[in-house]
Amino acid sequence: MVQAAYNFPRGFLWGTATSAYQVEGNNKNNTWWDWEQENGRILNKDKSGSACDWWGGRWKEDLDRADESHHNAHRLSIEWSRVQPSPDRWDEIALDRYREIIRSIVERKMVPIVTLHHFSNPIWIEEFGGWENQDMPDLFTKYTLKVVDAFKEYVNMWVTINEPNVLAANGYLLGLFPPGKSDISAGLRVMTNMVKAHAGAYHAIHNLQSNARVGTAVQFRGFLPARNWFAGDMVATKILNSLFNDFFPVAFSRGILNFPIWKKRISNASNTLDFLGINYYTREYVSFNLLNLKELFTKRTFSPEDELSDSGSIANVPNFLFKAIKWGLKFKRPIIITENGVENRNDDLRRKYIIQHIHQVWRAVNFNFPVKGYLYWTLVDNFEWERGWTQRFGLWELDPDTQTRRKRPSADLFAEICQGNCLTSELVTKYSPELLAHLFPG
Ligand code: GAL
Repeated sequence: MVQAAYNFPRGFLWGTATSAYQVEGNNKNNTWWDWEQENGRILNKDKSGSACDWWGGRWKEDLDRADESHHNAHRLSIEWSRVQPSPDRWDEIALDRYREIIRSIVERKMVPIVTLHHFSNPIWIEEFGGWENQDMPDLFTKYTLKVVDAFKEYVNMWVTINEPNVLAANGYLLGLFPPGKSDISAGLRVMTNMVKAHAGAYHAIHNLQSNARVGTAVQFRGFLPARNWFAGDMVATKILNSLFNDFFPVAFSRGILNFPIWKKRISNASNTLDFLGINYYTREYVSFNLLNLKELFTKRTFSPEDELSDSGSIANVPNFLFKAIKWGLKFKRPIIITENGVENRNDDLRRKYIIQHIHQVWRAVNFNFPVKGYLYWTLVDNFEWERGWTQRFGLWELDPDTQTRRKRPSADLFAEICQGNCLTSELVTKYSPELLAHLFPG
């Protein structure tokens, strides 16, 4: 049979995303390490331990896996606490180690996309008040300068702060991430400081590197009112959309911080996005709920018809990835899907999820929307923050005790997509035949 194909443009970026704390292991000088030791913070009392043992050297074999799977890009992050273990010390040995990793990404002909901050802070930063400290933008800018100067030979794509919206919500509203607060005014202060930190970093990077492309990776969640006829749900949905999805990209493009009842202008933040990174996992239904102050008076649920991931945290709703991209168009910047993935041990849902989501990316590309790449979360099962090892997102399965990796079928599926730069009817037949009639009718 002649195969049909959804083709992607030449040079489209394909790969996976990782983050330092989740893969390196033994990041002891870091707020998350202490957080893990506290009772009740991490599911099952799981510990990151040696994680995927990247700091112990296994980054090499994992990057070989990515390379052999035809990935042409890899997103990774730098752990601030390794590079600047105390306020007055830079660790050149750690910088050399990162340089080696990044150089080897380039040698494997993958484009490195480097995130400067992915959720975790050095302990000394947190002791200074962390993101609430008004000096944080300066401290972050200095750290950024050090890192960019060290790696600019190899990297020109930078993500300043990963998911500032999730960090603010989980750290300062829901209490799920350190510092574990539920304090709206602290949350708003933190959001302001993150905008300033991003802006400071943006300008600092451009001063150092004229061809730099600096962006953010914001998590876009699809929010829909649970009851279309109920104004409470509609208003709650609007507030979530504006505060969670829109806030940071609006601030980084227009320099305006749109808080629910007031606005603030930070002029050096305007035009500080060279690309928009979208992390998309799922959509949810929003109901107004007066009792739930922590979640801004909302309750968020899935529909009984939704196909859910193992722990029920992600509903497979691919058309919202298309909506996320459409939403991203208003910022008038190139878009990269900087994370998309599902937790699924036995890999049956993952294969389907990947095919369906990549099909939606193709639809966007076919509309000439400026989508430049797709990064799956993640390469190898890793330490999933407050959910510990309970959620398995990897293309490779990992046994953290023995460090054994086992390839899941999705790794081959994704490799074939990357290699061909297309999604074909043959691949769908091979990996998720139930989708064939829908994706390739006729
Ligand atoms: C994102 C986060 C990643 C990873 C992923 C899956 O919010 O950026 O670090 O944990 O979710 O849970």
